[in-house]
Amino acid sequence: MEQEMKKKRVLSGMRPTGKLHLGHVVGALENWVRLQNEYHCFHFIADWHALTSDYADTKDIRQNRIEMMIDWLAAGLDPRKSTLFVQSAVPQHAELHLLFSMITPLGWLERVPTYKEQQENITDKDLGNYGFLGYPVLQAADILMYKADFVPVGEDQVPHVELTREIGRRFNYFYGEVFPVPQALLTQVPRLPGLDGRKMSKSYGNAISLSDTPEEIQGKIRTMLTDPARKRRTDPGNPELCPVYDYHKIYSSPETLENVIQGCRRAGIGCIECKKWMSDKLIESISPILERRKIFESRTDEIQDIIQEGNRKANEEASRTMEDVRRAMKLD
Ligand code: TRP
Ligand code: SF4
Repeated sequence: MEQEMKKKRVLSGMRPTGKLHLGHVVGALENWVRLQNEYHCFHFIADWHALTSDYADTKDIRQNRIEMMIDWLAAGLDPRKSTLFVQSAVPQHAELHLLFSMITPLGWLERVPTYKEQQENITDKDLGNYGFLGYPVLQAADILMYKADFVPVGEDQVPHVELTREIGRRFNYFYGEVFPVPQALLTQVPRLPGLDGRKMSKSYGNAISLSDTPEEIQGKIRTMLTDPARKRRTDPGNPELCPVYDYHKIYSSPETLENVIQGCRRAGIGCIECKKWMSDKLIESISPILERRKIFESRTDEIQDIIQEGNRKANEEASRTMEDVRRAMKLD
């Protein structure tokens, strides 16, 4: 117990956007799974955050939450080690968000780079809503609620963690030390591009999904983009210009990597052969996840129980923090 209390805390969340793909596993989940042995970890499904842009159509949200929890468990997150929960089941997040909204200057929010970027890039939805501007304030509530020390996120989320630090400091300055100031934990993983070399994304249709079968994955990799210089088998290529090689770097042995480099540069191997080496290793590495996913898919009752238990534990933590917050603000 003593030990448990001294463990540093880790918190991260994901918006429930449907089934996860390999990019999520390599970029985030493998890291979360490693962290759960060393830290006191909280991971949650950010369904309220999904609403900041997808407010008009909520029909998939319930199913997406379940799919996401199945993917997390399949990837190796262990509910006995990490608290896994759903944001909207812990309404204290909304209370803390409201209190933070009082002390967050508008200018801070308007300066967050994702705010303007997304408003410009996402044209099929109107993002001129109040909730969207407040997205990072809600995120600050998520993080500070669990008094997190570390927040494992991708590069794009660093400004949100920065803002969280500012909000935490401002709260402590006005009302007394309640929150530790958290740190982003950047995951240094090699890039895993999509099948066409762009960022892996379901909406680009270039993703390997955790619900694909090994045969489907083999098929997708057969059609994967390669170095365009290798039109014919006899044309030499450059692995650095080929997404297949990015995958080799993650999944293949140093000897195979060497054979790929030499074989590609000297046209000693064909792309079909090269892809087969890679896909065999990739499938070997992820098949435990695919198999676990299939098992969990058929046990939705168990998934519901896991979510409920996670929600209960998160509620307990959140209630404790809100007591501190209300006391500090003289709202108790
Ligand atoms: N904004 C994050 C994303 O889009 C999701 C998120 C919500 C989150 N709340 C969080 C991540 C708190 C880390 C901590 O990926
Ligand atoms: Fe890519 Fe391999 Fe073909 Fe070279 S041989 S272009 S690394 S698939």
